[in-house]
Amino acid sequence: MIRTAYKSGITRASLSKRYLGNVSKLYYPEEVTGPVLVSENVPGPKTIELNKKLGEHFDNRATYFVTDYKNSLGNYISDCDGNKLLDVYAQISSIALGYNNPALIKTAQSEDMVNALVNRPALACFPSKEYGQILEEGILAAAPPGMTKVWTALSGSCANETAYKAALMYQASIKRGDNDFTAEELSSVMDNALPGTSDMVIMSFDKGFHGRLFGSLSTTRSKAIHKLDIPAFDWPKAPFPELKYPLSEFEAENRKEEERCLAEFERIIDQWPTQIAAFIVEPVQSEGGDNHASAFFFKGLREISKAKGVLMIVDEVQTGVGASGKFWAHEHWNLPTPPDMVTFSKKFQAAGFYFANPDLQPKQPFRQFNTWCGDPSKALLAKTIYQEVTHYGLVGRTAEIGDYVYGNLQSIFTKFPTQVKNLRGEKFGTFIAFEFNTANERNAFLVAARNKGLNIGGCGDQSVRMRPTLVFEREHADVFLQIVEDTLKQLYP
Ligand SMILES: Cc1ncc(COP(=O)(O)O)c(C=O)c1O
Repeated sequence: MIRTAYKSGITRASLSKRYLGNVSKLYYPEEVTGPVLVSENVPGPKTIELNKKLGEHFDNRATYFVTDYKNSLGNYISDCDGNKLLDVYAQISSIALGYNNPALIKTAQSEDMVNALVNRPALACFPSKEYGQILEEGILAAAPPGMTKVWTALSGSCANETAYKAALMYQASIKRGDNDFTAEELSSVMDNALPGTSDMVIMSFDKGFHGRLFGSLSTTRSKAIHKLDIPAFDWPKAPFPELKYPLSEFEAENRKEEERCLAEFERIIDQWPTQIAAFIVEPVQSEGGDNHASAFFFKGLREISKAKGVLMIVDEVQTGVGASGKFWAHEHWNLPTPPDMVTFSKKFQAAGFYFANPDLQPKQPFRQFNTWCGDPSKALLAKTIYQEVTHYGLVGRTAEIGDYVYGNLQSIFTKFPTQVKNLRGEKFGTFIAFEFNTANERNAFLVAARNKGLNIGGCGDQSVRMRPTLVFEREHADVFLQIVEDTLKQLYP
């Protein structure tokens, strides 16, 4: 199937020119050219059998299919029945370079990796002599504009929670000035009481998702089922704009909605009974349904928070590392001043938060601390990912492929005007989503697409999100588009 490029200026010829050096082919000469389906359905009989066995000891109820990772390659994931599916879900948005990437395998087989794995250090106490350099050449080389330091963590939730702690300790230290902790603080904190603990809060947004550990879960507002039965901090929630798509068609209405949300954000800061130490926001609310807002909104958040002394934490756990067509999605905004902290995980394999202000490191050691404080094996992978991404210009390629996919989806969806709506992610790389009228219709689409050889995930209540690797090329896009169209035709003949 041949599709025409959609964006004016990006003709089919110019696109092919840009894709002359096909990175995917370079990495994966043996990659299949389309889905291979051997069982009648996905999941197939072997998945069902193995999953049943797994379920005897491990909660397997979220299993899509049991995977054969050794047999997966590039953009295609293989299940244990031997089906090969084009994967645009990529381990919940966390595979940057494709399955069994040769550069990552080389890193995995290096002496540095063996050293990092078999001698896992407690990094804050016994950092390896190589760690500084690994960070400098990898995670720190990739730092967002204005960020010079990093604290490494273990997962996305952990990255956010350590950022919250940094914010809370920073704000307390400003109040405390040069004074030491008081005797009352030192004793009350052992009873989980003020003044040793804090009544400062972290603000998040309606439908935001920031993780599921105790602190991060309090800032997560996407789905009730994630939060039920878990004690939560009484922290404020600001409204996130509910925009109309396509954004370019509804600029005036959307601007009004964003102004409303900014006013409410400011009102909450002014009126919340205790101090707001920081707020956290995703560039696109991903788990919550791929909800976008404009640069105007994020600039407004930065300006208001800066003026009021509230720290800005940008959660790039899902949006970071190239998928948006910028290495960090918040680079789309051109903020007047950088955020105070930027958190990352997923595609980088390593997790943590970036910052610049040295005072975000608490005055005393052992306060921002745990046994591992990150993982040098993951930092080594992050370094290779960064180097490959920059070497092959994968962020720019993702931007172009995203434009191609977006344009073609737009034309496919004109054939299903009442069933599919709210295509989003224009000029935002491959970070693309669309929506059905109900959760059931969305779920039917996911299942039918999987049975045609496309592994794709949902988000929010009724949305479908695309989260492919950064080596998702034109030929993968064409397979993807064909399956989307065929699936819709099957569901809505
Ligand atoms: C934006 C965002 N923040 C935080 C998290 C939590 O990351 P983890 O599941 O690694 O704890 C996620 C996970 O989906 C996420 O999308």
